[in-house]
Amino acid sequence: MSYEGRWKTVKVTVEGGIAWVVLNRPEKRNAMSPTLNKEMIDVLETIELDPDAQVLVLTGEGTAWTAGMDLKEYFREVDAGPDVLQERIRRDASRWQWQLLRMYSKPTIAMVNGWCFGGGFSPLVACDLAIAADEAVFGLSEINWGIPPGNLVSKAMADTVGHREALHYIMTGDTFTGQQAAKMGLVNKSVPLAQLREETLALAAKLLDKNPVVLRNAKHGFKRSRELTWEQNEDYLYAKLDQASHRDPEGGREKGLKQFLDDKAIKPGLEAYKR
Ligand code: COA
Repeated sequence: MSYEGRWKTVKVTVEGGIAWVVLNRPEKRNAMSPTLNKEMIDVLETIELDPDAQVLVLTGEGTAWTAGMDLKEYFREVDAGPDVLQERIRRDASRWQWQLLRMYSKPTIAMVNGWCFGGGFSPLVACDLAIAADEAVFGLSEINWGIPPGNLVSKAMADTVGHREALHYIMTGDTFTGQQAAKMGLVNKSVPLAQLREETLALAAKLLDKNPVVLRNAKHGFKRSRELTWEQNEDYLYAKLDQASHRDPEGGREKGLKQFLDDKAIKPGLEAYKR
């Protein structure tokens, strides 16, 4: 399936099981405008149903991953419109930036190639995994232009980064690099920009090798864990486990057990079952 030219602000190609979703407003540092937000809802819903796309990589064209919300089109221009317009514009942003992305049915990797500011932190943390370029520059710049972080930016920080560090960056607007982001747990790792794609491909290859139904249930189970009590969590995680077995057309659990216990062909502690 070719997606060439289908969206104005996002470029999508599917190759080798990977959907490369590229925010494509390089001249505006991929700032997230209402148009981009609307298109991204469609992109995510479309890719979810594309059987050729098994892993989604979210990245940016040019020097930015994203410079955050579009200060002109998302803030200033919307200020001039009716109140309900603002509600709708905000809803579209939330819809893809964390609601769809956070519980997406396929594994997602944020490949942070450059600038990453403000509103960009919501989709960054909503992606399951993240790899940054050492050269990438991050910042919670809201304080620098006169607002506290909105949308789910602070929540994203609270879920990934320690209390002191989160407040430091929220309150000072200081920038930090890809390497610092990795050290504080905001991204999984950071590599030189020249190796970023290769590193992302290697990570995607690992995910492509795994059972997609089990992957989905594993990540959904984890993501809800923070919000539930121990008792609720036990029920929920067992429900996910049973759901995975029930929905898994390849019978991964039985294969895994057989290959270890009967065939003695694998050691699950060290390798995945042969699919
Ligand atoms: N919203 C709207 N437009 C933006 C934007 C944003 N968040 N970030 C960049 N742009 C636009 C600039 O206005 C400029 O447009 P113009 O060419 O029509 O004047 C263009 O993108 C290039 O930006 P420029 O500042 O010249 O690029 P740079 O590479 O020198 O600097 C940044 C990049 C990201 C450091 C800088 O653009 C910036 O600080 N952007 C704002 C980041 C921010 O505070 N985001 C938080 C939003 S919540």
